[in-house]
Amino acid sequence: MADTSATNAFDVIVIGAGPGGYVCAIRAAQLGMKVACVEKRATLGGTCLNVGCIPSKALLQSSENYAAATHEFAAHGVMVEGVKLDLARMQARKAEVVSANVKGVEFLFRKNKITWLKGEGRIAAPGKVAVSDQVYDTKHIVIATGSESMPLKGIEVDEKRIVTSTGALELDAVPGHLVVIGGGVIGLELGSVWARLGARVTVVEFLDSILPTMDREIGRSFERILAKQGFTFRLGTRVTAATADEKGVDLTIEAAGGGTAETLRADVVLLAIGRRAYTAGLGLDAVGVALDERGRVGTDAHWATNVPGIYAIGDVVAGPMLAHTAEDEGVALAERLAGQAGHVNDEAIPGVVYTWPEVATVGRTEEQLKAEGIAYAVGKFPFTANGRARAMGSTDGFVKLLADKQTDRLLGAHIIGPDAGTIIAELVTAIEFGASAEDVARTCHAHPSLGEAIKEAALAVGGRALHI
Ligand code: FAD
Ligand code: NAI
Repeated sequence: MADTSATNAFDVIVIGAGPGGYVCAIRAAQLGMKVACVEKRATLGGTCLNVGCIPSKALLQSSENYAAATHEFAAHGVMVEGVKLDLARMQARKAEVVSANVKGVEFLFRKNKITWLKGEGRIAAPGKVAVSDQVYDTKHIVIATGSESMPLKGIEVDEKRIVTSTGALELDAVPGHLVVIGGGVIGLELGSVWARLGARVTVVEFLDSILPTMDREIGRSFERILAKQGFTFRLGTRVTAATADEKGVDLTIEAAGGGTAETLRADVVLLAIGRRAYTAGLGLDAVGVALDERGRVGTDAHWATNVPGIYAIGDVVAGPMLAHTAEDEGVALAERLAGQAGHVNDEAIPGVVYTWPEVATVGRTEEQLKAEGIAYAVGKFPFTANGRARAMGSTDGFVKLLADKQTDRLLGAHIIGPDAGTIIAELVTAIEFGASAEDVARTCHAHPSLGEAIKEAALAVGGRALHI
């Protein structure tokens, strides 16, 4: 056990200052522990704040404003002429947003007296973390080293012509034709950014649906909505090779099951086929921390690895690779280290795609309920019948609720629609509290609000929607 009165001894050393690591550090400090956090990046905040959630949302907001000014204002009687894109300014604004956020984490570290150990952390032994040539003693070690973009054989990323999300956030010109490999969250969000700014966007997806892990109806409907916005989808298609030259990339594609090869010419290719756990340089082998079959750090239900005193949270462990999951795990683990009973409810974790309209989902899909043999009732309500959505001019999408057929307990909620990522919160709370569809249906919702579509979908579970 480390004597934490020494300057280089801590109660907890967290490795990685992303949303999992920095939040874990703050909560541990709040609970009276002496905490250090190791981060090798020049700024705190991890993937999320530096090259993920925050810069992507800054560009989504800016590109949405541009698209509204060019295509939507006129319908509202707002006539603007000569709308021009200043991409350099848009990128500079994004950098300002990132900078304010990462500095915010530095402030929180100072406020909570968390020591930032700058550099790459390596677990020298249980209770010992090495950073450069210094070794620090600690009671607990938390691995929060996150994830990295998944590579694809035959596709060499140069972050200029063939980019990951990191390069796609930094383009200094709008590509004429952007080909996205992978119809998942990154492909659709960053595809939307560049489509709104004028790029032709083609999405090549291996499976037969975009967002394939979501409710099937969501994937199919969302594909139609994005197609109306100009996206081209090549589903059931795989990329077998890519050759980049000065001006662009030739991508060889063929049907997923095999078939005649075809060439797609792209100005830029975005590789977005998922992310994988990042454990390089941690020395896990030497210390005996076991990885699972997909290279993630193996843990029990309370984030303990097989080596006593070493824990792991966030993208580096199994589960959804989402910032809020990482944060909640960070809080729960810190509380457990303090002898409390921190817990994360896997059934009530929202997932949001920040396109327009947005896609938001929580709980079980129809496909999962069928596979589990659970009898369910469906309630649906379209935004075309919601007064507020009409006033906004944003009627694409619907709310779909799934409730247990016998008990009426809400099991899943899936929304495509304006601000879906915000209004889903009500349904996350409902699922967290074990609410029934009837509970949601009998809750008074403000008028006119987008949330009324949720109330109507809840009424529809019982076959008694009022406005359709
Ligand atoms: P990370 O944020 O990856 O942080 C890990 C940190 O550990 C990094 O800073 C890394 O430098 C550091 N590190 C690694 N190894 C070492 C070492 N040995 N020593 C020192 N430091 C080390 N999620 C959402 O919920 N909402 C979104 O809108 C969203 N948008 C995204 C957009 C993009 C483009 C991407 C790529 C991801 C997005 N995500 C989003 C996912 C989200 O970013 C991750 O789920 C989240 O960052 C995971 O947090 P983490 O703390 O586990 O790891
Ligand atoms: P993803 O898992 O969301 O999507 C990857 C897609 O690529 C899937 O549809 C998959 O079927 C497809 N695919 C896999 N191999 C392929 C191949 N060889 N050819 C063509 N298609 C292939 O992963 P993505 O979009 O890279 O995002 C990574 C992670 O980052 C996700 O886990 C996501 O949760 C997180 N993220 C979250 C965001 C949010 O919450 N708004 C935004 C961006 C990322």
